This record gives sequence, structure tokens and C-alpha cells, in this order.
Amino acid sequence: MLSKKVEETLNNQVKLEAYSANLYLSMASWADKEGFPGASEFLYEQYNEENTHMLKIFQYINDREGHAIVPAIEQPPSNFNSIKEIFEKTLEHEKFISSKINELVAVCMSETDFTTVNFLQWYVNEQIEEERTARTILDRLKMLGGDTAKMYLFDRDLKDMRTIN
Ligand code: FEO
Repeated sequence: MLSKKVEETLNNQVKLEAYSANLYLSMASWADKEGFPGASEFLYEQYNEENTHMLKIFQYINDREGHAIVPAIEQPPSNFNSIKEIFEKTLEHEKFISSKINELVAVCMSETDFTTVNFLQWYVNEQIEEERTARTILDRLKMLGGDTAKMYLFDRDLKDMRTIN
């Protein structure tokens, strides 16, 4: 059984994961419209992953006799200046999510809910991967220095980017 405080914080994380999903969906749409099919596919996959993150917590809340709440979600930005900006925002966002996961673990520790601490360990590890992937993509983008031909190849290679994890 979850304490009220843990239940509320988990429901808040559901909302953050749902926002993350919509943020990547919005980025995928922009990349698609601007002619970056590789980046778009990568970001649609991110959208799917975030939905999975959201659903895992959602179902966990009910599994532990809490009440998972479908949240109202704020609209994400729909316009971006470049693919580089998208991945800068991705890294910034994932760092923010990592801090929220850490806060969540701290709440569970203070409530002596070690079952939920254990459940959240997967998220702690996932955040390391998410930040690393965004950082790797940004490093590659910096190396291109605006070269259009290389940008084409970079975009094509992004489709396989998940396999570097
Ligand atoms: Fe679900 Fe990208 O954190």
C-alpha cells in the first residue's frame, strides 16, 4: 500500500512522463515537416518510450492499491529553430526528468517505501541512458558544423541511434 505522499508524487511523475511523450511527439512532427525523416523517426520512437515510462508508473500505482490519475497536460512547444536546438532541449529536459526521479526516490526513502525505491531503480538507470544518448547526438551535431551533406548522412544514421545504447 502506497502512502498518500508517495502516491501523489508518483502521479506527478505520470504527468511528467506524459508531457515528455508529447514534447517528443511535437519535435517529431517538426522534424518530419522540415525534411529530417531520420530525426523524426528517432523522436517518434522517443514518444513511444515515454508512453511506456508513463504507463509503467500508472499501472504500478494501482498495483499498490493507489489511484492512478490521468493528468491534464500542458501543450509543448511546436516550433524549433534547428535539429541542434531540438537535441539541446532534449538533453535539458532529460536532466530535469532525472532530477525529478531523484526527488521521487528521496520521497520514497523518507516514507520508508523500499518497494517503490526498488521499482524506481529502472528509471534511475534509464535516465543515465537518455542523457547519454542526447549528449552523443549533440556531440555529433557539433562535429558537423553545419555541413549540409554530412547533415543528410547524420539524419539517416539517427534511425539506428537506439542501437548504440
Ligand atoms: Fe521518461 Fe525521457 O524520461
